[in-house]
Amino acid sequence: MAESFINENARGKMIVICSASGGTGRTAVTVNLAAMLAKRKVKVDILDADWQFGDIAMALNLEPAVTIKEIAEKQDRRNARNYSILHSTGIRVLAAPDRPEYADMITSDVLEATVSALLSETQVLLAETQAGLNDRNIQLMEMADIILLMTTPGIGSLKNTKLMAETLEALELKDKVRLLVNQKAGSNAIKDSMIPKLVGVEPFYFLPLEKTQLASSLDLGEPIVLSHPKLRFSKGIEGLAERLYPQEKQSADSNFIRLFQKKITGVRGRVDELIGKNSIEESEGIQKNQ
Ligand SMILES: Nc1ncnc2c1ncn2[C@@H]1O[C@H](COP(=O)(O)OP(=O)(O)OP(=O)(O)O)[C@@H](O)[C@H]1O
Ligand SMILES: [Mg+2]
Repeated sequence: MAESFINENARGKMIVICSASGGTGRTAVTVNLAAMLAKRKVKVDILDADWQFGDIAMALNLEPAVTIKEIAEKQDRRNARNYSILHSTGIRVLAAPDRPEYADMITSDVLEATVSALLSETQVLLAETQAGLNDRNIQLMEMADIILLMTTPGIGSLKNTKLMAETLEALELKDKVRLLVNQKAGSNAIKDSMIPKLVGVEPFYFLPLEKTQLASSLDLGEPIVLSHPKLRFSKGIEGLAERLYPQEKQSADSNFIRLFQKKITGVRGRVDELIGKNSIEESEGIQKNQ
């Protein structure tokens, strides 16, 4: 087993973006969700875990000089975040190797240590997996807080999503699964209400079909949520970011923690004074009794 470098206190939230079939929109959702979180000043990292044909770097117009392959080569697992590239939005991307034959270098140990190192330095880690199920995908899902299982509303994608959801249930991972239905349109033959029966999972969120701008935004490497924030798809991503990482809750949490810390410090100050007083009295008492 790999040594774990997780600092539990500082551990970020890990969201795995996966799907049974290819082409469901994992890359589109990953880069736009990351851009939306970065816009909200959340520290966000992307792990491109589609190690054969990952295209996160391309979708953000980045040209990585180093990737996770170099982490595996150099066995430099503690410093995984040094191998990620900084995007102008603040997102950090640990890119997939530049050739598919390097994918096998990402062993279970490399993956565990890399994820642990990234999680200890970020607030949200988004990991896009290869489509389907394999050992590494399952390993990522086991480490994740949320498994965003993506599907399109077509019968083929839904059939495979059902099989994948059943497998995840058998692996006791279903509690973490959130079903994201992408490319929803009024013209879909399969209506929203039919999806829970077909897949066996209640949809968590729907994203609309975006015929005009999304493909070109991926080609240009500009997140659509930044270039076209008013589109329904962009608003959808905004809502998804809020569901997955609520802004108010975060600030409420940190306000509460600050207040709590202040109270603790105040109480601790008084307790320390009392303890100090008592211990002096006690020690004096001991001396007196001696
Ligand atoms: N909501 C949407 N509306 C319209 N087109 C979409 C939507 N989401 C994704 N697409 C399109 O579907 C195609 C596949 O998207 P994307 O590359 O994000 O999927 P993927 O699941 O990452 O695919 P792969 O399996 O190749 O990694 C792209 O052309 C993208 O523009
Ligand atoms: Mg992809």
